[in-house]
Amino acid sequence: MSAEWPDSGRGLLKPGRSGYKASLFMIAKRSGLMERILFFEPHLRDKSVLAHDPFKALIAPRPIGWISTMDKAGQVNLAPYSFFNAFSSEPPLIGFCSEGAKDSLSFARDGGEFVWNLATYDLRNEMSLSSAPLPRGDSEFVHAGLETAPSQLVRPPRVAISPAAMECKLTQIIQLKDMDGKDMPRFLVLGQVVMIHIADRYVRDGMIHVTEMKPLARCGYQDYTVLDEVFALKRPAGGGNSVGGG
Ligand SMILES: Cc1cc2nc3c(=O)[nH]c(=O)nc-3n(C[C@H](O)[C@H](O)[C@H](O)COP(=O)(O)O)c2cc1C
Repeated sequence: MSAEWPDSGRGLLKPGRSGYKASLFMIAKRSGLMERILFFEPHLRDKSVLAHDPFKALIAPRPIGWISTMDKAGQVNLAPYSFFNAFSSEPPLIGFCSEGAKDSLSFARDGGEFVWNLATYDLRNEMSLSSAPLPRGDSEFVHAGLETAPSQLVRPPRVAISPAAMECKLTQIIQLKDMDGKDMPRFLVLGQVVMIHIADRYVRDGMIHVTEMKPLARCGYQDYTVLDEVFALKRPAGGGNSVGGG
């Protein structure tokens, strides 16, 4: 792939001082095709071209961490987080990021535990309802009409109707910084999975039939998608599980 870059060269563009319009179409040659490429520094986005921030629409689909927590006083909280993922398989570590100090963060910090529940297509409305900004202490389980089910090794309950859940012990809360080293009100909450629950009806031949569970995933704007189709791809020799990673 080759591209025609501005005469000044890529290396000369200075963050925030490139002198270019906030967004710029370039003609690029890609596999012999000419196409227009839009590039811009995120904070200088030209809103007459991209009225809505495309960031979350590009990092998509994102799995949803439907996180239940309990504080020391026994109050229960449930909320969806799409800045969520798995970060390690051995030990199994998962985490979500709170933009601002939200209840899930403070409950997880207080109780030292959290539970990930699988949000499915069938549970999309309940998942959405559970994102309501309720006063601290008002249970989103009640608000979304969801029943709780007890966990085995941690105090926060599971979403009873969800077909899968992971009980986690808090391992780290990392306050994120920007590129200048300034602390941001963004908190990555990581936990080690200590118990896994899977509805037996989805397990056959030693494997989970994930497309039958129909996990919900977040895209940009108001959009979601659902995992209802998969395809297999073999890794190159020496890759894959022999070297870890997803
Ligand atoms: C699908 C979905 C994904 C979300 N992802 C995040 C996220 O990654 N980080 C975040 O801070 N808020 C996210 N939110 C918003 C929170 O769910 C919302 O602020 C909620 O009220 C937080 O609840 P809590 O204060 O009880 O933790 C998301 C909302 C929805 C509907």
